[in-house]
Amino acid sequence: MAASIIDGKAFAVRLRGQLAEHVAQLKQEHGLVPGLAVVLVGEDPASQVYVRSKGKQTVECGMRSFEHRLPAEASEAELLAIVEKLNADPEVHGILVQLPLPSHMNADLVISAINPAKDVDGFHISNVGLLGTGQKAMVPCTPLGCLLMLRAHHGNLSGMEAVVVGRSNIVGKPMAQLLLGDSCTVTIAHSRTRDLPAVCRRADILVAAVGRPEMIPGDWVKPGATVIDVGINRIERDGKTVLVGDVHFDSAAAVAGAITPVPGGVGPMTIACLLANTVTAACRAQGLPEPEGLSA
Ligand code: GUN
Repeated sequence: MAASIIDGKAFAVRLRGQLAEHVAQLKQEHGLVPGLAVVLVGEDPASQVYVRSKGKQTVECGMRSFEHRLPAEASEAELLAIVEKLNADPEVHGILVQLPLPSHMNADLVISAINPAKDVDGFHISNVGLLGTGQKAMVPCTPLGCLLMLRAHHGNLSGMEAVVVGRSNIVGKPMAQLLLGDSCTVTIAHSRTRDLPAVCRRADILVAAVGRPEMIPGDWVKPGATVIDVGINRIERDGKTVLVGDVHFDSAAAVAGAITPVPGGVGPMTIACLLANTVTAACRAQGLPEPEGLSA
């Protein structure tokens, strides 16, 4: 294997340590305790695991965690009433409504009801617009985690050729904006892209965010490239359920310069960046200096 492994798990542990220090300082010097509210509608098992993990890590970093649960059959109006209450609560600096929502709810409408200053997911159109115009925004957690790892690995990304495979609002589009903000030459590729292998082979930085298990093989990777695999796919292999990324790890690792594994790459960074966004939101709300190097 040629590639070095970008250890997202270790990176996330360091980031959470930095955040815990910052939070302790905010508490001591300003009496400020950042608070994150997570709202979960329904019983989706994967969402329940995420929400529990978010709550636990929030508390471990010294922050307040608030959890609101609604049954799957709750009305949109009930959810909007909770969002309004959280918008008005001075102890809540970050609000996350866990997605997906039940089909009778309009996720766009719910997200647009969140105060953009508390939108730690960075999904509100105000934050999307701020990011797109290079202004101070709340940045979606997964792409922010990818950017922080890329900056740590390369130092400066200026002038690099970046290809993002996937055009979702949650990962692909904001990832492209962030890379552009760091002066990469950016291509967003997707299922209709002509000659996708050739496009991928141009990339110094290849970000895979398509949600298709092991879709990108090693011969789509330029020798020495940095590969960021955002995919988390559960598949059956040899009678067992295993987690794989959107990249075929073994063949890609044979040609890449550096690669994130699945699990243990991008995944752990997502929650760490959610905590970072909550601290950032709390500091902005109070007009205090933000933690350095943790935003776009
Ligand atoms: N569901 C899966 N990932 C996420 C996320 O990053 N934010 C929200 N709100 N819901 C999710």
